Amino acid sequence: MAYWRLMAAVFIHLLPLAAMADQDAFVGVNIGTALSDMPNPTQVVALLKAQQIRHVRLYDADSAMLTALSGTGIRVTVSVPNNQLLAIGQSNATAANWVTRNILNHVPATNITAILVGSQVLTTIPNAAPVLVSAMKYIHAALIAARLDSHIKVSTAHSSSIILDSFPPSQAFFNRTWEPVMVPLLEFLQSTGSYLMLNVYPYYDYVQSQGAIPLDYALFRPLPPNKEAIDSNTLLHYTNVFDAVVDAAYFAMSYLNFTNIPVVVTESGWPSKGDSDEPDATLDNANTYNSNLIKHVLNNTGTPKHPGVAVSTFIYELYNEDSRSGAVSEKNWGLFDANGMPIYVLHLTGSGSMLANDTTNQTYCVAREGVDRKMLQAALDWACGPGKVDCSAMVQGAACYEPDTVAAHATYAFDAYYHRMAMAEGTCDFNGVATVTTTDPSHGRCIFPGSKGSNGTFINGTFLDPSSNSTSSSSSLPFITHDSVSIMRIFMVLLSSVVLL
Ligand SMILES: *[C@@H]1O[C@H](CO)[C@@H](O)[C@H](O)[C@H]1NC(C)=O
Ligand SMILES: *[C@@H]1O[C@H](CO)[C@@H](O)[C@H](O)[C@H]1NC(C)=O
Ligand SMILES: *[C@@H]1O[C@H](CO)[C@@H](O)[C@H](O)[C@H]1NC(C)=O
Ligand SMILES: *[C@@H]1O[C@H](CO)[C@@H](O)[C@H](O)[C@H]1NC(C)=O
Ligand SMILES: *[C@@H]1O[C@H](CO)[C@@H](O)[C@H](O)[C@H]1NC(C)=O
Ligand SMILES: *[C@@H]1O[C@H](CO)[C@@H](O)[C@H](O)[C@H]1NC(C)=O
Ligand SMILES: *[C@@H]1O[C@H](CO)[C@@H](O)[C@H](O)[C@H]1NC(C)=O
Ligand SMILES: *[C@@H]1O[C@H](CO)[C@@H](O)[C@H](O)[C@H]1NC(C)=O
Ligand SMILES: *[C@@H]1O[C@H](CO)[C@@H](O)[C@H](O)[C@H]1NC(C)=O
Ligand SMILES: *[C@@H]1O[C@H](CO)[C@@H](O)[C@H](O)[C@H]1NC(C)=O
Repeated sequence: MAYWRLMAAVFIHLLPLAAMADQDAFVGVNIGTALSDMPNPTQVVALLKAQQIRHVRLYDADSAMLTALSGTGIRVTVSVPNNQLLAIGQSNATAANWVTRNILNHVPATNITAILVGSQVLTTIPNAAPVLVSAMKYIHAALIAARLDSHIKVSTAHSSSIILDSFPPSQAFFNRTWEPVMVPLLEFLQSTGSYLMLNVYPYYDYVQSQGAIPLDYALFRPLPPNKEAIDSNTLLHYTNVFDAVVDAAYFAMSYLNFTNIPVVVTESGWPSKGDSDEPDATLDNANTYNSNLIKHVLNNTGTPKHPGVAVSTFIYELYNEDSRSGAVSEKNWGLFDANGMPIYVLHLTGSGSMLANDTTNQTYCVAREGVDRKMLQAALDWACGPGKVDCSAMVQGAACYEPDTVAAHATYAFDAYYHRMAMAEGTCDFNGVATVTTTDPSHGRCIFPGSKGSNGTFINGTFLDPSSNSTSSSSSLPFITHDSVSIMRIFMVLLSSVVLL
């Protein structure tokens, strides 16, 4: 009996990591919101869909964002913000309320798959460390009560700086100061089938090494054999910093006798721009790092210690966060700007469809929100007049008549002009009332120029060739009988031929 129990224990003990070898790793994206011009949740979700991003991590549990993600099938990891940790760690009722408000209100429509209780707690708010594990247990207890514990994992995101002596990885261990927290924490992760969540930043390891780590090793670039790092204790070969840090985490856990907790990388990335004293924060390096990281993760390469075991990873981050304080690099970790324009085009040939397609050529020109109505009207007048946009799609009864507002009509005209000008630099400005977006403004029958729904020649021939003289074509005549204020103004302009811009 004892023998069988032991065998069962060993089997269960080994199961998760072995099982992970059969699971595909995923790449997700962190969504930070410190942008002066933060896109609304609908726009964020449109970008995620366009880029086929299937996994995201939020730094909170924002209700509007979770609502926008509902029905998309996108897997969502939410977070308990650090400033709520003390309260939750001290009261199971507070934890239960948090779960009710932020989780139960959104599942199952929104596919929430994990809750991260705090971010880098041990290194950023060590005073909350004593309640970290109880906070995780209280959140988990509330999930059990709601029968969601098998679907939603509970963990916390650690800075990799809690792991000391990471090279060679076989010698790594958790900073002893934190052993009283790490041991019960790992017991919790093990008993609940959860993951060790770790932020892995080869960029910082490289910068802090002051030359000891070659840039190529940080960027997953091939190294000459004599430069390859070999762990003399295990004889494992390391070809990149990322794998070394993940293996250091496995070794640090096994040092405490935990050998079956998989690792998920909650943050990894590279800044595309920096101060003069951050010379390696460049577009090229950011592109190389993230492209290679995605290929490495999706290939299920695993690490030298656990080949083939998935190390799912969330890239830091979706948007450049221009409102973050600190060095220039702090604001430049994003894959996209606030308009959803890629900062650089990843090199992902052969790695599936996620983030694989350049959206540079799938942009639209729209009216800015909250701009002066008269300025907007003037720009619309110009586009439909001297700008030679065919505005017949906006006459009453036509596909783009509704909604009959200056902003909607201006958006159509701006986009038509922008695409006729082949989306050239500066052709989506209109004295500052227009802006570029990746969100297709098409709606219903109204298919916008440049939309995937059309191939440039606008549907049913209403999109005129640039060489055509739309001002004298019959398409301008229906404007007279039209009661739309914006379209009447266009007609007036057509008659007077005033060049407004
Ligand atoms: C939600 O995510 C889980 C875990 O990835 C997956 O197994 C499940 O099919 C998803 N459910 C929906 C409705 O997409
Ligand atoms: C909180 O813990 C107490 C004592 O263990 C228990 O009686 C109570 O049911 C728990 N409350 C919730 C909301 O889980
Ligand atoms: C270990 O953690 C403690 C507490 O945060 C910190 O003071 C100490 O510097 C850390 N040790 C090392 C070697 O980083
Ligand atoms: C790990 O297990 C070994 C062998 O059972 C034991 O000697 C050691 O004390 C354990 N270490 C910890 C940190 O529990
Ligand atoms: C993909 O994995 C195979 C082994 O599974 C490995 O030989 C190959 O080098 C990996 N490719 C990349 C780009 O990591
Ligand atoms: C990316 O482009 C390829 C080839 O043009 C196409 O087959 C694939 O569907 C595209 N993926 C996305 C996400 O648009
Ligand atoms: C985008 O369009 C421009 C101009 O038509 C073209 O030169 C460029 O190659 C296109 N880029 C991609 C990635 O298709
Ligand atoms: C665009 O689509 C229309 C209708 O589907 C088709 O008749 C036309 O040939 C297409 N034009 C190009 C350039 O592909
Ligand atoms: C285009 O015209 C055809 C025939 O007039 C019509 O049946 C069809 O609905 C129109 N398509 C759109 C998108 O308006
Ligand atoms: C301009 O309009 C006139 C009158 O409709 C027409 O005869 C002429 O062919 C048009 N020119 C072009 C370039 O379309």
